[in-house]
Amino acid sequence: MREQYRTTELLAADLAPEPVEQFTRWFKETAANPAIHEPNAMIVSTAAPDGRPSSRTVLLKHYDEAGFVFFTNYESRKGRELEANPHASLLFPWHPLARQVIITGLAVPTGRDETAAYFRTRPHGSQLGAWASPQSTVIPSRADLLARYDELAARYPDPEQVPVPPNWGGIRVIPDTVEFWQGHENRLHDRLRYRRHAETWHVDRLAP
Ligand SMILES: Cc1cc2nc3c(=O)[nH]c(=O)nc-3n(C[C@H](O)[C@H](O)[C@H](O)COP(=O)(O)O)c2cc1C
Repeated sequence: MREQYRTTELLAADLAPEPVEQFTRWFKETAANPAIHEPNAMIVSTAAPDGRPSSRTVLLKHYDEAGFVFFTNYESRKGRELEANPHASLLFPWHPLARQVIITGLAVPTGRDETAAYFRTRPHGSQLGAWASPQSTVIPSRADLLARYDELAARYPDPEQVPVPPNWGGIRVIPDTVEFWQGHENRLHDRLRYRRHAETWHVDRLAP
């Protein structure tokens, strides 16, 4: 299972001045690579106030200088943990390119308008699904989940507008650090990490 990576070097001099711009460069290359399914899938890690961590995959739906946004149930495990402890980590595992990007920062809920605008773009069935699932709670059976969904589908038949669930919405991670990792032969990988420093970004090279 040992792989030698044949890849080009990542030099600080070649990096964009801002991490979001650098992310865009890599994200475009990732999205163009057919070996990578769901290039916007990222692993979100959170920690409970007692320090216990947990991770799960979500989809990045929007990003810009303000941060990286995903949508979820605010009462889910991740939602509750972020409410109590807003420190989050996002990891993009782009293995076929021997790359990963790791972002750390503070997680804040998006405004209701932003949530509603995104909710409206989701297919009718996904809108109902957001209502039907009390995410992360124990449920009696799959049949119970389907019954909830059917009840909602009867109440809001397609194409009737589904209201935005009050406990569902966007979470924006405002980056403090963004690390770009490029794998190379002999484990001599590149790790360049942007760190926010007042209004500017510093880049450090980390040992692999
Ligand atoms: C590829 C993929 C994409 C996913 N996207 C999301 C997402 O955007 N939002 C979400 O809440 N859960 C998403 N999930 C489900 C989460 O991984 C997770 O099961 C769920 O959010 C509950 O997590 P929690 O109990 O830790 O809060 C996705 C799972 C996979 C495998």
